[in-house]
Amino acid sequence: MDEALAPIAPHIRRLRLTSFRSHQTLDLTCANGAVVITGANGLGKTNVLEAISMLAPGRGLRSANLEDLRFRDAQGLTQESWTVLADIEGATTGAIRAGVAFEGEGGRRVRMDGETRRVDDLAQALPQLWLTPSMDRLFVDGASGRRKFLDRFAQTLDGGLSRHLSAYEKAMRERNRLLQTPMTSFSSNSWLDALEDTMALEGVAIAASRLAALDALAVGLIGLREAAFPRAEIALEGTLEAGLRAASAVDVEDGFRDRMRATRALDASAGRSLEGPHRSDLQVVYAAKNMAAKDCSTGEQKALLVGLILAQAQSVAARIGDVPVLLLDEVAAHLDSHRRAALAEILTHLGGQSWITGTEMEAFSGFAKNAPVTAIQMTPSGEAVTL
Ligand SMILES: Nc1ncnc2c1ncn2[C@@H]1O[C@H](COP(=O)(O)OP(=O)(O)OP(=O)(O)O)[C@@H](O)[C@H]1O
Ligand SMILES: [Mg+2]
Repeated sequence: MDEALAPIAPHIRRLRLTSFRSHQTLDLTCANGAVVITGANGLGKTNVLEAISMLAPGRGLRSANLEDLRFRDAQGLTQESWTVLADIEGATTGAIRAGVAFEGEGGRRVRMDGETRRVDDLAQALPQLWLTPSMDRLFVDGASGRRKFLDRFAQTLDGGLSRHLSAYEKAMRERNRLLQTPMTSFSSNSWLDALEDTMALEGVAIAASRLAALDALAVGLIGLREAAFPRAEIALEGTLEAGLRAASAVDVEDGFRDRMRATRALDASAGRSLEGPHRSDLQVVYAAKNMAAKDCSTGEQKALLVGLILAQAQSVAARIGDVPVLLLDEVAAHLDSHRRAALAEILTHLGGQSWITGTEMEAFSGFAKNAPVTAIQMTPSGEAVTL
C-alpha cells in the first residue's frame, strides 16, 4: 500500500455489550491500531466481532437472527434484549456515542448521541469490513456468498445500496409469489407490471453500485504489494452489469423490464425469476498464475481473500477518506509467518482499527513489533483482561 490516507480513522474507543451472546456484560477500552483478542476456543472472541458487526447494515458477520444474539444461560433462559454501545472517534466524525439495541421484537434501534438514527448513518460514521473463517469457502461455494462479499464492500461506498437491495428483493419475492397464483393471462397484469418496474429500477441501481465498487476495488488491488498477498483479477458476471458497460442506465432498465415481461411464463414454471442482479457472480482469478481462485490451494485462497479485503479497505479510504474498521476473525490461520508479518505491516500503514482474533498471542508478535496494539485476553470466567 502506498500511503496512510486518513489522519485519524474512525475507530472504537470503548465497547460495551449487554446480554450479547455469551457476554452478559463486557466493557472494553481500546485504541486505534490493532486490537488483538486471544483466548481459548469458545470464550466469546468471535462474539465480540459479531457485536461490532451489528453496527453495520445487514445481519452481521454470522448472518444470525437478532433474537439468537440474546444471552442464554445454561438453563436455556434467554434475556429479553441485547445492546451494543460504542464510543467512536474519528477525524471527520469527532466523538460519537453510538448504541444499537434489540428489544425482543422488530428490528434494531440505533441511536447516535442520544438521537434515533438509521443503521446506514452509523455505517457511514464507522465503515467496516470483515473476514471470517466461514468465508474460507467463498471461491468454492455458490455465487450468493461472493455477491454478498462484493455488496458489503459496495455498501461502504454507496450508502443507498442496502435500500436498493431490499426493495429489489421485496419486489422479486412478490413477483415470484404472484407468478405462482392462477391468472388468465401472464401478459396483462398491472400488478406484475408495477413489480417489474420496481425490479428494473432497483436492479439497475444495484448493478451500477456494484460496477462502481468493482472498479474501485480494481484500483485498490493494483496498490497491493504483490510479494505478500497474491493479486486477484476480478470481474463481475451479470446481464445488467454487462449491459451498463455498453448502454445507458435507461436503456438497460427498459431492456430488463421487457425481458421480465417476456419471460413471465418461463419464470412461473421455474418458480423463480431467472434473470437479474440476484444471479450475478464475482469472478476471481489468481493473476500471476492465471488460475481461477476456486482451484487454488487453501492457503492461496486465504491469501487472496486477505488481499481482497486489504484492497477493499484501501479503496474505501481513497474514496470516502476514512479507513474502515476491519474485523479479521482467525485471520492468522492458514497464513505463514511471512504473510502474517506483511499483514501487520500493511494494516499499520493503512492506519485504521483492526480487530483480530486468535487462540495464541504468539501468532501476533508481528503486530506488537510494528504497531500500537491493544492486546485483550478472554478468560474462562468471561472477563476480558487488557494485557
Ligand atoms: N445466545 C447465546 N447465549 C449465550 N452463549 C452463547 C450464545 N450464542 C453462542 N453462545 C456461546 O458463545 C460461545 C462461542 O463464542 P465465540 O464463537 O465467540 O467463541 P470464540 O472465542 O471465537 O471461539 P473459537 O476460538 O472456537 O473461535 C460458545 O460457547 C457458545 O455456546
Ligand atoms: Mg471464534
